[in-house]
Amino acid sequence: FLSLSSVGSISDEETCERLRGLIQRQVQICKRSVEVMDAVRRGAQLAIDECQFQFRNRRWNCSTLETMPVFGKVVTQGTREAAFVYAISAASVAFAVTRACSSGELEKCGCDRNVHGVSPEGFQWSGCSDNIAYGVAFSQSFVDVRERSKGQSSSRALMNLHNNEAGRKAILSHMRVECKCHGVSGSCEVKTCWKAMPPFRKVGNVIKEKFDGATEVEQRKAGTTKVLVPRNSQFKPHTDQDLVYLDPSPDFCDHDPRTPGMLGTAGRQCNRTSKAIDGCELMCCGRGFQTEEVEVVDRCSCKFHWCCYVKCKQCRKMVEVHTCR
Ligand SMILES: *[C@@H]1O[C@H](CO)[C@@H](O)[C@H](O)[C@H]1NC(C)=O
Ligand SMILES: *[C@@H]1O[C@H](CO)[C@@H](O)[C@H](O)[C@H]1NC(C)=O
Repeated sequence: FLSLSSVGSISDEETCERLRGLIQRQVQICKRSVEVMDAVRRGAQLAIDECQFQFRNRRWNCSTLETMPVFGKVVTQGTREAAFVYAISAASVAFAVTRACSSGELEKCGCDRNVHGVSPEGFQWSGCSDNIAYGVAFSQSFVDVRERSKGQSSSRALMNLHNNEAGRKAILSHMRVECKCHGVSGSCEVKTCWKAMPPFRKVGNVIKEKFDGATEVEQRKAGTTKVLVPRNSQFKPHTDQDLVYLDPSPDFCDHDPRTPGMLGTAGRQCNRTSKAIDGCELMCCGRGFQTEEVEVVDRCSCKFHWCCYVKCKQCRKMVEVHTCR
């Protein structure tokens, strides 16, 4: 569904037929809930932007999602990177749909009015809390249907479903209470509060942390069902908030024309002093790097003038830019 990020608005049932990258069951849901689909489309864009932000300093930088939106073929399935993309995608749909509910643009849902009355702390619930339950349920039906339609017994499907759920949990477990004060000159005589989702950047940070600590798993039989268990039995079992993966990642060093999205790191900028993955040593996979001096124009010597404007000079300075060979 990430391909939806590249289409215009989704306004009627016929548009649903023409969308690329949806399976038949998703087209049906699209037709049944056309008004929600524009939020889904915004969710897809949110997922791609956040993925690119979180991976900007890594060898695999999520860029391929842009040129080849049908994500299934992009990152190697079964890897940690795939786990991240599934989690952020499922979260983004829940997030965008919930946002749309609260903003009143949908007929099917609105604010969560179950949170009401006076709280034990003595503030008034505003009656317009984020309806995260609706967003999560929609994400579960729309995003997960892909895996469910393949049959849940494959280890890939189990992995993807687990990571979808972990992505949504990243929102659910970071819900917050926001408040507004009312009263003469901001005296907080009356305080109204509502439950709100965290900013999506926070959700991205949480899922990126889960990516860094993801658990390698394998499939086991447990009675008649199948479950994923840690490959290394000495590791503590993963929770429903952790990401899991089945296969080790490729090193992402070299361009491989046979694997869509395997761009390699040649031409990527790197940091000469960093020892981490954004450093030239690791980013360039030992191939070395080129250094160029480029001129950047910046605002500088800014002065505040009474009253009230700020005037700056334009400064040019040379900076060194390193790029991988
Ligand atoms: C990601 O890296 C590729 C080269 O490997 C580059 O062409 C692309 O612009 C980068 N994308 C982003 C979003 O940084
Ligand atoms: C490069 O890495 C060093 C050490 O990690 C860091 O202090 C510095 O801010 C980085 N430079 C850039 C341009 O990101």
